[in-house]
Amino acid sequence: MPDIVRKGTEEMKKRKNIVRRDRVLVHEALLEVQNLIEDLPLQRDMLIEYLHRIQDKHHQLSDQHLLALATIMKISQAEVYEVASFYHHFDIVKAGEDSPAELTVRVCDSVSCEMAGSVALISKLKDIVGDDVRIQPVPCVGRCESAPVVVVGKKPILQATAEDVMTDVNAKNTEDVAPADAIRYDAYVADGGYELYKQVMAGNKPHEELFTTLEDSNLRGLGGAGFPVGRKWRIVNGQAAPRMMAINIDEGEPGTFKDRVYLERDPHRFLEGMLIAAEVVGTAEIYIYLRDEYPGIQILLEEELVILREKFPEAPPMQLRRGAGAYICGEESAMVESIEGKRGMPRLRPPYLAEVGLFGRPTLEHNMESLYWVRDLVEKGADWFTSQGRNGRKGMRSFSVSGRVNKPGVHLAPAGITLRELVDEYCGGILDGKELYGYFPGGASGGILPASKADIPLDFDTLNEHGCFIGSAAVIVLSEVDSIRDVAINAMKFFEHESCGQCTPCRVGTSKAVKLMQQGEWDTDLMAELSTVMMDASICGLGQAAPNPMNSVITYFPNELKQSKSGGVSS
Ligand SMILES: Cc1cc2nc3c(=O)[nH]c(=O)nc-3n(C[C@H](O)[C@H](O)[C@H](O)COP(=O)(O)O)c2cc1C
Ligand code: SF4
Ligand code: FES
Repeated sequence: MPDIVRKGTEEMKKRKNIVRRDRVLVHEALLEVQNLIEDLPLQRDMLIEYLHRIQDKHHQLSDQHLLALATIMKISQAEVYEVASFYHHFDIVKAGEDSPAELTVRVCDSVSCEMAGSVALISKLKDIVGDDVRIQPVPCVGRCESAPVVVVGKKPILQATAEDVMTDVNAKNTEDVAPADAIRYDAYVADGGYELYKQVMAGNKPHEELFTTLEDSNLRGLGGAGFPVGRKWRIVNGQAAPRMMAINIDEGEPGTFKDRVYLERDPHRFLEGMLIAAEVVGTAEIYIYLRDEYPGIQILLEEELVILREKFPEAPPMQLRRGAGAYICGEESAMVESIEGKRGMPRLRPPYLAEVGLFGRPTLEHNMESLYWVRDLVEKGADWFTSQGRNGRKGMRSFSVSGRVNKPGVHLAPAGITLRELVDEYCGGILDGKELYGYFPGGASGGILPASKADIPLDFDTLNEHGCFIGSAAVIVLSEVDSIRDVAINAMKFFEHESCGQCTPCRVGTSKAVKLMQQGEWDTDLMAELSTVMMDASICGLGQAAPNPMNSVITYFPNELKQSKSGGVSS
C-alpha cells in the first residue's frame, strides 16, 4: 500500500474512532439538550436561544452538547460552533478543558465604571472570592449612572463595593427581577393607553395622518444614526409584502442606558408605538432583540407580551430574542443576522434592510426609543415636539449622563442644549465642586470634546465639524481629576474587544491603535494614517468610528500626548 494511502487510511480510522466515541457520549447529551429545548419550535433561527438554554443550565457549552445540538438541528457541528464561539456570554469547554467556575461575577470596566474605581474593585474581588467564583471584567452593562456596576450571576449591583458583592455571592442571590415600578398593562390602559392603537386599528386614524405627523415632527431615529423615522416608515411601507419589523434594544454603546430606563418605567408606551408602527407600515411579524444584560426587563417584557397577545389577537406575532453579549449586534444588519441565529456580522450594503432585511424580507428596523415617542407625538401633535429645542435646534433628546456630575441619569432635555447647560440645569453641576475637563458627547464612539467646547449645541449634525457625533446621546462627563488619554485607551480597548473581525482595517486597526496609544509618546503621524484607513475602509460604523477618541486626544488634548495626566484613571 503506498505510504500516502496508508497514512490516509489510518487517519480515517482515527477519525471514525473519534466520531464513534463522541456518538456514544452524545447519547446522554442528546437527551439533555432535547429536554432543555423541547418547548421551543425546532427552527434554524432559534440556535442562539437553544445555546442560552444549555449555558443557563450547565454554565458552559461542552463539545458533546454542541454536537448534540447539531444532530438535533441537522446542521454541521462547525455551524453550531462558529455561532456559539462568536458571543461572549457562551463558555465553550472542549474535552479535557476545565469547566468555568459555577458562578460568574461580571465587573464592568468601561469608561464610567473605570472612572468610578472598577479596576481596584476587580483586583480586590479576585483576592477575596473562592475558586467557585469567576471574576470577569466586561464591557458596559448599561447602568453607567450607578457606576461601578457588578453583576452577580444575573443580579446587578449598583455602586458596588466588594462587601456588597460578597454578600450576594455568599447568599447565592444571583437572579434579577422585573423592575418593580414599571407601569403594567392595566395601569397603562387606565391612563388612556392603547386608545390610539385601537383607533388606528378601527380605521379612525388614517395611516396617512400618522405618516405626516411623524414627518412634520422630524423625529429622527434614536439608535444613533438619526435617520428620519417618518421617511423610514414610508420607504418600508412601499416595499413588497411580507414586511418584517426588528426592534433594537441591544444598547451596548458604553455610556448609554436610556432604553433600559424607559423600559423600567413605561414599557407599554414603547409596545403601543411598536404595534402602531406594525399596523401603519404593515409588518407581518415583529422581533424584539434585547441585550442579555437586561434579564429583569426580559422577564417584564415576556410577561407583558403574553397579555398583549391575548388582548390584541389581531396584532402580528411578536417574538422576544435575547442577545448574548456582543456589542456589534446593535448594528442593525448584525442584529438581523443574530435574530436569524447566526454570528452577528454586519452585512455589506446595499441592499439596505428596508429592502432586504430579516429573513430576506423588507424590514423596519428601529431603536426602541424611536417607537416610544410615537403615541405622544400623535396625541400631542408634531408642534408639541418641534416647539421644544434650544440654540436653533428642534425637538427633545434623552441624554444618558454619567461620570463626574452630581445627578447622573437619563435627562430628557431640549435638542441643541449645550453640555454646560445640561450639566448645570439637569445634572446638579460637576461632582465635588471640580472643574469640567472634557466630555464624550455620544458614548465611546462619538469622540471626546474639551471644556472649551462645552457651549456648542448637542444634536445630530452639530458636532461633525468638531470631529464628534451625538449618536445615542450618551454623555460621559470628565473633570480635572481624569486623564483623557486613559479614557480614550479604555474606549479603544473596548472596540478591539468588540470588533467582529470581519474586516482587516477594524480587526487589526483597533488592536494596533491600542498598542500605539499605550506607548509613552504618541506617534501622531502613524496614528493619523491608521485612522484614515480605519475610517475609509471599515465595513461598518464600529471600525469607522473607533479612531474618534484617539483623534480627539490628538486634536484637543495635546498636553496628554507625551504621558498620562497624573491623577487620571489607570490605563
Ligand atoms: C457598532 C454599532 C452599534 C450600534 N448599536 C446600537 C444599539 O445598541 N441600539 C440601537 O438602537 N442602534 C444601534 N446602532 C445603530 C443601528 O445600526 C441603527 O442605525 C438603529 O438601530 C436604527 O434605528 P433608529 O432609526 O430607530 O435609530 C449601532 C450602530 C453601530 C454601527
Ligand atoms: S468594521 Fe469591525 S465590527 Fe464592523 S464589520 Fe468590520 S470588523 Fe466587523
Ligand atoms: S455600566 Fe459601566 S460603563 Fe456603563
